[in-house]
Amino acid sequence: MANTGSNMCSENPDVYCEIEATVPTGFEPATKQEIQDKLGVSSVVERGHALFKIPVKDALKCLELQSVDNLYVVVKHFEHIEYPDDKDGSLQVIGELVPKMDYTVPLNVWKQFIHFDHEVSPLPCKNWLDQHAAETPCGNIKGGELELSDSENVVAKKPKCSEIDNMDGPSVKNDSTVNTNSIESSVSTQDAPPAKQPWIDSLPAFRATCYRTGSNHAFQSQQAAHHFGGILQDYFGWNVSMKQFDIEVVLNITGPKAYVTVGLTKQSRHKRHISHFGPTTLRPTICFSMLYICQIQPGDVVCDPMCGGGSLPIEAAINWPQSVHICGDIHDKAYNRAKMNIDCLNNKYEIKGKPKIDIQVFQWNTCSLPLQDNYVDVFVTDLPFGRRSGSKADNRKLYPDVLRELARVSKRSTGRACILTQDKRTIQRALDGMQKLWKRRSTFWVNIGGLAAGVYLIQRTKNVYSAGKDNRKGEDDSNKLEEDNSGGENDNKTNSTKDEEKVTENTIN
Ligand SMILES: C[S@@+](CC[C@H](N)C(=O)[O-])C[C@H]1O[C@@H](n2cnc3c(N)ncnc32)[C@H](O)[C@@H]1O
Repeated sequence: MANTGSNMCSENPDVYCEIEATVPTGFEPATKQEIQDKLGVSSVVERGHALFKIPVKDALKCLELQSVDNLYVVVKHFEHIEYPDDKDGSLQVIGELVPKMDYTVPLNVWKQFIHFDHEVSPLPCKNWLDQHAAETPCGNIKGGELELSDSENVVAKKPKCSEIDNMDGPSVKNDSTVNTNSIESSVSTQDAPPAKQPWIDSLPAFRATCYRTGSNHAFQSQQAAHHFGGILQDYFGWNVSMKQFDIEVVLNITGPKAYVTVGLTKQSRHKRHISHFGPTTLRPTICFSMLYICQIQPGDVVCDPMCGGGSLPIEAAINWPQSVHICGDIHDKAYNRAKMNIDCLNNKYEIKGKPKIDIQVFQWNTCSLPLQDNYVDVFVTDLPFGRRSGSKADNRKLYPDVLRELARVSKRSTGRACILTQDKRTIQRALDGMQKLWKRRSTFWVNIGGLAAGVYLIQRTKNVYSAGKDNRKGEDDSNKLEEDNSGGENDNKTNSTKDEEKVTENTIN
């Protein structure tokens, strides 16, 4: 009875799996909304990830999510693990998690995402059963099925033993030594240790990874991954490969809690669309989240006025093909890079028979755009941070100049802008001095390549922009603004109060 975890569960609409989607830190609200909109389910978001349940038969729909970096299927949550004070005892407790989990549904989901030529059994291998039948953690194995609750408490004592019957996993050579199979949470990888068994083609290769947070542990994440991976190998008899793995099993430890997942994506999904990289190329998953919170509508004119290599407009044109996309940059290199990225992608699309993306690229100065007033619906841009691009001193003049020009070109009342920058002090000063032109809607604190940055979602007020009559810092005089009499209400002080900014402080890194 080698494969009880069969196809049944991928066809049964009542069988659910839990998915973990990792997200660039700070963009969790965008992902939560995307999950709701595209998959129709609610999710629980925490720093850097979202968790949600979905029928196994619909699991592949998760690939429609554009704001997520990696996808995992959850094997099991452990709500409270009591670790002994010593390292060896703690690692033993971690190893004992391995046979406490039912891998049937997770492996069923995994095989929808990852191609592997052979069936992969969710059951322990014969050697494991032979070695453990008499002694141990078989309390959870009965009649060829694993009986488990969704989550459970684990304490550092041996589980009670009950029977194993009718089990037949793949037969492989095994020995009692623990194989090293570890990844440090900080992305360092170790060379695979010498194999303790011959490679078997019909079995998948795997690696174990551990992410650990919390200080009350007597072990390092690398040691946990090492030991956990060793027991997993004993349990399944799978091959080990740090780089050419088919299955990645991830142990996530946070204080006394832990959960185990299986990877569904072999590389981060942000690796897409861009072929020519610049010094400040923005991840497509981040671009997508910035665009998503702007609620772009068909027919909207969407513009990135400082587009660098074009990541934002490319993501916009792919995902909102019914909108109009324009972008530009002041520098030759950036302008050329954006053109090359778009051309390269369109060449690939042509070969695949897919419709090309349509983006107009300009070389321009954002402080004086060759665009008419009241024209753009959505500006989405990544301003020079003043680190890798520009300088903070330059930003003090650049940011207000840019915001004023965007206000001129933006559609009054409905126009919005999503602006990313790490130079928070300068953008906040610039926005404070321009409240008659821009209302702040929400702010997200995000992590961009290790830098704490802010994403500012702002909305154009009804006030008419008039050159030289805007409200610069220290000149905040409403008389200098021409009121819009065309559309009814004036955007007077009362309205400004009503529309007070809502600052959503999601994550501070
Ligand atoms: C942070 S980078 C944008 C990176 C881009 N999002 C990407 O993924 O490649 C900021 C860009 O602003 C451009 N820039 C700076 N000052 C500008 C100006 N006055 N007008 C237009 N572009 C400008 C820089 O050339 C740079 O490419």
